[in-house]
Amino acid sequence: MSRTIAIFDTTLRDGEQSPGCSMTVNEKVEVARQLEELGVDVIEAGFAVASKGDFESIRRISRNVRTAAVASLARALPGDIEIAWEAISQAAHPRIHTFISTSDIHMARKLKKTRDEVLEIVDQAVRLASGLCPEVEFSAEDATRSDPEFLCRVIEKAIRAGASVVNIPDTVGYTTPHEYGRLIARIRENVPGIDKAVISVHCHNDLGMAVANTLAAALAGVGQVECTINGIGERAGNAALEEIVMALKTRRDVFDLDCGIDTQQIYRTSRLVSSVTGTALPPNKAVVGANAFAHESGIHQHGVLSDKSTYEIMCPEAIGLPGNQIVLGKHSGKHAFESRVKSLGYNSTPQELDKIFERFKELADKKKTVSDLDIEALIHNLSPGDPEIYKLDRYTINSGNTITPTASIRMIRDGAAGEDAATGDGPMDAAFRAIEKIIGTKFELQDFFVRSVTGGKDAQGEVVVKMRADGRTAVGRGLSTDIIGAGIHAYLNAANKILAGTAPAEPAK
Ligand code: KIV
Ligand code: ZN
Repeated sequence: MSRTIAIFDTTLRDGEQSPGCSMTVNEKVEVARQLEELGVDVIEAGFAVASKGDFESIRRISRNVRTAAVASLARALPGDIEIAWEAISQAAHPRIHTFISTSDIHMARKLKKTRDEVLEIVDQAVRLASGLCPEVEFSAEDATRSDPEFLCRVIEKAIRAGASVVNIPDTVGYTTPHEYGRLIARIRENVPGIDKAVISVHCHNDLGMAVANTLAAALAGVGQVECTINGIGERAGNAALEEIVMALKTRRDVFDLDCGIDTQQIYRTSRLVSSVTGTALPPNKAVVGANAFAHESGIHQHGVLSDKSTYEIMCPEAIGLPGNQIVLGKHSGKHAFESRVKSLGYNSTPQELDKIFERFKELADKKKTVSDLDIEALIHNLSPGDPEIYKLDRYTINSGNTITPTASIRMIRDGAAGEDAATGDGPMDAAFRAIEKIIGTKFELQDFFVRSVTGGKDAQGEVVVKMRADGRTAVGRGLSTDIIGAGIHAYLNAANKILAGTAPAEPAK
């Protein structure tokens, strides 16, 4: 009989730790809800002691998530562990995840502790956490560069102190599949009491082997794998959840492992994480990249037309990739629209449905046909919790190759209109400058990308911007068949988050 492996998602902690991937509290709650739909076993919601924002989002996620366990990271320090517990105590299945480094280099240079001191800290920390929380995970940071014999002693100590999950992270992405598999086997053979705990792995992608290493550990018998959506994470990222899960599914003959993931939620989760973090996916990204199911060469196209399995080892439907077929038009009624949204798997509230339907009608007026991909984009762009200090009223753009681009913008704040105009290097630049004049704040634009939702000249364009001001960084999203309009909405969305203080603050130096 197949074994089941638990999926521990750390998108909201290790993923969010990567440069430029920070999310607002509302966005984290939205991602957590989607992770639950996806079917992950554990959601690592953050590092409670790291910031007020982290604490708050862990607390809100703990209240909202019912089926998955919710974990908070904590250094092996009493203060960290107590705050982690406070943040997760209302979760249906709380888990404290405490860690300390076990490699000689980390112990000597970072912690300035001896091996014996580290063993003592592990014992104290795990005992404290176990006294507070029914489930405790212990991680031996930099495990793959640790002396394996010492590592085994640390793990034994953690299990004796009450850890029910022991994690063996490849913190710096250094190991190789064969070596990692052997390390797991050694731990399974040599640690007394190991059968009382679940062995977990956590891999970083510095040498591009995070997924391969994770799968090698899965073959070596671990019971939990840690990963992130789209592989986001520190430096080169973490092992990508979608790649691990689709490898297990597609090569069941090799792995013979089950997991609780509903693979049809993969594409949607990937899109959500990409847009809330403002990180575009490379087109050739495995499983979820734009080209993952595109066949360009004539030979491949010919093969796929006669039999998909000639060049397709998994089908787009398996990850829930919505089709681009025409589904609705401007004469479609609310009832048909609502049932389409439901059949796409969204449980939108009546208020959300009203808003999406209003936007669908506007879109159907501009675009002859509206596809599932368009509807998904409208839903993702809704962001119900986003602040709206300034609301766009209207804009006029003048541009061309023989004139200086100018933009005139009118926005509403607390019922009062503000209007201004500006010139710029291009129409988008002019529009952004006009917005800044009205608001009276200069924003530093750090990133900007445009994506077309479907093919065709009347396609909706999605603009994502990342910008900074007042010590906060925000990601803004905008969607429109007019790309300048999408850019203005995205800029305003990010500006509002900064002004409202919901955008994550930069850590104090
Ligand atoms: O990479 C790592 O070692 C970690 C631990 C805190 C689990 O993220
Ligand atoms: Zn990590």
